Order: sequence, then structure tokens, then C-alpha cells
Amino acid sequence: MKNNQLTDSGQLRHFLTIEGLKKPLLTEIMDRAEQFSGITHRQVKKVPILRGKTIVNLFFENSTRTRSTFELAAKRLSADVMNFNISTSATSKGESLLDTLHNLESMHTDMFVVRHNQSGAAEFIAQHVAPDVSVINAGDGCHAHPTQAMLDMFTIRRHKQEFHNLRVAIVGDILHSRVARSQIQALATLGVGEIRVIGPKTLLPSDCQTLGVHVYHNMETGLEGADVVIMLRLQLERMQGALLPSAREYFHCFGLTEDKLKLAKPDAIVMHPGPINRGVEIASSVADGPQSVILEQVTHGIAIRMAVMSMALGAQSEQHEIPA
Ligand code: CP
Repeated sequence: MKNNQLTDSGQLRHFLTIEGLKKPLLTEIMDRAEQFSGITHRQVKKVPILRGKTIVNLFFENSTRTRSTFELAAKRLSADVMNFNISTSATSKGESLLDTLHNLESMHTDMFVVRHNQSGAAEFIAQHVAPDVSVINAGDGCHAHPTQAMLDMFTIRRHKQEFHNLRVAIVGDILHSRVARSQIQALATLGVGEIRVIGPKTLLPSDCQTLGVHVYHNMETGLEGADVVIMLRLQLERMQGALLPSAREYFHCFGLTEDKLKLAKPDAIVMHPGPINRGVEIASSVADGPQSVILEQVTHGIAIRMAVMSMALGAQSEQHEIPA
């Protein structure tokens, strides 16, 4: 079946979801990111790959990491970037999403980077842009956050090299997490040996088993022998009704402490997409501890987003050699 994110020749045009993408494409994104990550250590952190292109960051929902790293990534590729400020825009005067989009498109935009609290918003925008415009999903509702998943895969590959022999545990609010959904799809596509999800019944999707994961409601059992532990925030803004007794009780059962981490492999890495809530899903001593790669994830977000943006805008890396 044709994937509407790809061109007829199989090249990336939009990046809306990991679902339906094949392993070689995910690997190509990580390989490109590997090339781009070297740029960060140069005196001039820029390459001319997207010179003359215009990228609009269209964030309808708050963000620290994703918006900043998309902006930096675009600038490092020499694109012109505009951060569209929703709170000071005509959206507050009742302008519709499509009218806003078409007005921005008329400024010869080549790419929209979209974050929205509604699942499917990025896909909707992708269906309404001109054929030469790309759309990147920077997180839509509970649905998908594909560049976050790819920077997480990149971080895992940097530390563990191979995927097939890994046991990865994702802990917390899986039900409301677009990050977890995209991570599970990416981990499965890359052939991870075992994917575990750990959380209370109220925070796991009812169709969990169909995702090809092993489900644990006991954190201690679920962490045993894990190579990678991914902690998730409680997404209170997306919860309807009381799904938890209290934050204190939650931390007792599902918070990652130094003692619980000892159940994973000694060289396990601890990840978190952020923002972290210290003392709710993770203890400070773990978040800031030697096994944490949380800030590395943020750094890798720049290279991954450079890779995705350059691929979606058709820039061939071989045409723009990235000197070592
Ligand atoms: N990981 C993530 O999406 O963080 P932000 O909400 O700060 O972008």
C-alpha cells in the first residue's frame, strides 16, 4: 500500500508518523543524523544544504525542546525560519486553521513543522498544502511524535549499537503518550528483541497486546534485565477523570528510583522525552545520575531534525558533502 508520506519514488515528503515506514528509511534518517551531528562541534555550525528554503514552525501547543531544536536544525541547514506565534496571531480573532495555513503558504513556505493538541492535525495540514510543500509532525495530540521517536532511536543506537538483542522498557502513561506510540512503532520496525510497557491498568491502552509489546503492571518485574528504560511523564492535560490515586502513590509504584534501576542491567540507560517531573515519575538522583542520557536526547534532536528536514526537502547529502 502506498504511504502518503512518501513520493512515488519512495522518498520522504512528509514526516507524520513512523507507522508504515520501513527499516531502511529509519536507518537512513539515523545515518544522516550521524553525519550532521559532527557539525555541532565545529566553530561554524552551519551547512548550506537548505539555503533559500523557508520553514515555518507552526506550534499550536507549548514546547521547549521540540520547537527550539527544529529552529536550530533549520538554521544549521541555512534555511530561513519563521516561528509563528499563535498567541499573537489572527487565530485569536477567529481565523480558521486552513485560512492561517493558506496565508502562510502564500509567503512561499517550503515546509511546515506542526505541533497541535488534536490528533491528526498534521495529517490534515499535509492534505491541504501544495504538492511542493512538506509537513513535519512535531507532535499531534495522543497520536504521534515521529522525530522524538527517531532521536530516541538514535540515542539508543549510539549507546547499544544494535537493536535486535535489546530489551526496552517503557514506563508510565502509555495511554496518552504520542511519544510511546511512535517509539513502539520505531522499536518494532528496527527489530528490537523485546518491548515492555509498564504502568497501571488505567494508563495503558486496552489494545496494548496488539502493539506487539509485553505488558507489566508491576514495575520491579518489568524492569528486570532491561537494557533501556524509557520513563514517561503523566500527561495530566490529556487525562479525563481521575486515573490515579495520587502523585505520591504513583511515584511509590511507578517512579524510577536508584533501587528500582538496579533491577535493570548494570549498563542500562535511562531515557525521558521531557519535560520531566521530578519526584513524580523519576527521582532526581536518577534523572541526573550516571545512567541518564536525558540531555543527550535533546542534543540528538538537532541532528535528527536536520536529517528529516533535509530528506523531506529533497536535499541529497552526497550533493552537499559534509566535511569531517
Ligand atoms: N519531548 C518534547 O516533545 O518536549 P517539548 O514538549 O518541550 O517539545
